[in-house]
Amino acid sequence: MRKHLVAPSVLAADFTRLGEEVDMVNRSEADWFHLDVMDGRFVPNITFGMFIVEAIGKMAHKPLDVHLMIVEPEKYIESFRKAGAHVITVHYEACPHLHRTIHQIKETGAMAGVALNPHTPVSLLADVIEDVDLVCLMSVNPGFGGQKFIYQSLPKTRQLRELIDTRNSKALIEIDGGVGLQNAESLLQAGADVLVAGSSVFAAQDPPATIRALKAFEAEFDF
Ligand code: DX5
Ligand code: ZN
Repeated sequence: MRKHLVAPSVLAADFTRLGEEVDMVNRSEADWFHLDVMDGRFVPNITFGMFIVEAIGKMAHKPLDVHLMIVEPEKYIESFRKAGAHVITVHYEACPHLHRTIHQIKETGAMAGVALNPHTPVSLLADVIEDVDLVCLMSVNPGFGGQKFIYQSLPKTRQLRELIDTRNSKALIEIDGGVGLQNAESLLQAGADVLVAGSSVFAAQDPPATIRALKAFEAEFDF
């Protein structure tokens, strides 16, 4: 049985109590910290950069999954790796030389991820799927937490699972946006490996219990 990972998105945390929020994730059953870097150019919002990633990294006891929603991400890969990123994900739509950027990430020793916006078809990854360590399917338009899950992401997850399996790729499938207790099981059955959860965790009455519940789901199939 393949066991999935849960990655709380710190974007939805209370930044006035960031240390306590990081500690909550440290003590929970979560696997990774998901950190959303936005530049106000690739997406219509600005969040934080390597300075905050590094500060979180000093408190975190789990790998940092850094999602770069920025233009020209190749310029900052080294800096985010130095700041403590274990997974570095760039957007397909922001990378004219994606193959080169993927290998640039791998050369730093980080896992290389590629994210697809909701309108970007999975088939566009056919020629790099064996090179990537993770594919992040955006199940909302990137830029903000707390948005509604786009239903088409479910069949898209199945398509990606098929592409990965037929090509013998080791890439993990990560689903990002609007993920919570209501759709986690369907996503796992469709082939997801990593569930990113922002508001469904941090806005919950009991965040550690919600993380535990997200971890407890099981996919019916052994892929
Ligand atoms: C959206 C970010 C997501 C976001 C998820 O652009 O990439 O990681 O934080 O937040 P929720 O889970 O609230 O949709
Ligand atoms: Zn994200």
